Amino acid sequence: MPAMNIEQYAYEQNYQQFRSLNQIMWQIPVLAMTLTGGLWFGVSKLSDNPLLTSALLLTAVFGNLTLVFILYRFRHVMECYLDWLRTVHPDGFVDASANSGSENRFERFCNGNKTVRNLFSYMLYWAAALSSILLLGYWIDRIWSGDVQSSEHAVAFYDEHAATLADGYESVAFEDAYPFLVTLFEGAPLTVVDIGAGTGRDAAWIAKKGHTVFAVEPSESMRAIGQKIHDGSDIVWIDDRLPQFNTSRLVDREFDVVLANAVWMHIPLAQRDKAMQQLYASTKPGGASFVSLRLGPQDEKRGMFEVSSSEFVSRAKKAGFTVVPMGDYPDLLDRPEISWKMYRLDRTSEN
Ligand SMILES: C[S@@+](CC[C@H](N)C(=O)[O-])C[C@H]1O[C@@H](n2cnc3c(N)ncnc32)[C@H](O)[C@@H]1O
Repeated sequence: MPAMNIEQYAYEQNYQQFRSLNQIMWQIPVLAMTLTGGLWFGVSKLSDNPLLTSALLLTAVFGNLTLVFILYRFRHVMECYLDWLRTVHPDGFVDASANSGSENRFERFCNGNKTVRNLFSYMLYWAAALSSILLLGYWIDRIWSGDVQSSEHAVAFYDEHAATLADGYESVAFEDAYPFLVTLFEGAPLTVVDIGAGTGRDAAWIAKKGHTVFAVEPSESMRAIGQKIHDGSDIVWIDDRLPQFNTSRLVDREFDVVLANAVWMHIPLAQRDKAMQQLYASTKPGGASFVSLRLGPQDEKRGMFEVSSSEFVSRAKKAGFTVVPMGDYPDLLDRPEISWKMYRLDRTSEN
């Protein structure tokens, strides 16, 4: 066999080099699909972690854009090799761009120069654009359901209408609102926090039974009316609210019983995990939170947000509670379109 001269060696090496570059270039879309698919799947599994969600979606955007650059760079280097091969051995060079002069537009497009590179790059741009849209949509939704929607609106409503609402609230008997709690409060003294206490109807009833009761109510007018109606009751009134207590008397304090009657619908969706964590933190190990859910159409004017029992139960479990349904109840203010679902959330002693 005749020995190869230096030109033949170079030729051999360059076409091998071109071949391996070509193979690597074809891996780029697979890499992009794996990267994007994995990141989108990760985002779909995250329930409420804005930082990580944003980080994953941004990685998808930058990852795909980076791959476009890499693709262009690869194709450029491959073009250099092709040019060299064409120059060195024009007779043996297969020039596919020569087929791009067809009459048919589709054929011209398919056989045009760098069609594969262009199509790959469109795919990568598309994945980057979709990731950006997802990121934008995520934040718009978050801002809308968290910051724009806040319980501020609800509190303003109660401040304005406290006098009109108070009579209705006070007309309800504790025994009707919490039939299953009556015997609990007949026993030894307990520590209780009533969150969103309104006029303090329940707090006053419990305090009368000899328990220590904190009534947490963010509406100034409601608090004023409650303090007036239940003047002489041994209730500690506190101005604070869910999703997170800020008052030093509540922070890090655990109660035997936590009540949140007719309040959950005022907590915006984006704040509900935090609110649930606060309920959990306020409940003593071995104690329980009692929360009612308002089912039926929610009144936006009163700062209410959608409520679903499955969403509530899954958040409660996520926070660490054991969930015990306490039954369905008709509305005690006789509104036929509204009904209530009551839950006991147990914080077990080991936790
Ligand atoms: C429908 S009333 C229920 C009052 C009382 N729990 C009852 O059963 O009669 C809702 C109360 O929740 C209070 N509230 C609204 N947003 C709140 C929040 N983020 N945290 C705590 N209370 C809130 C309102 O000011 C109002 O007094």
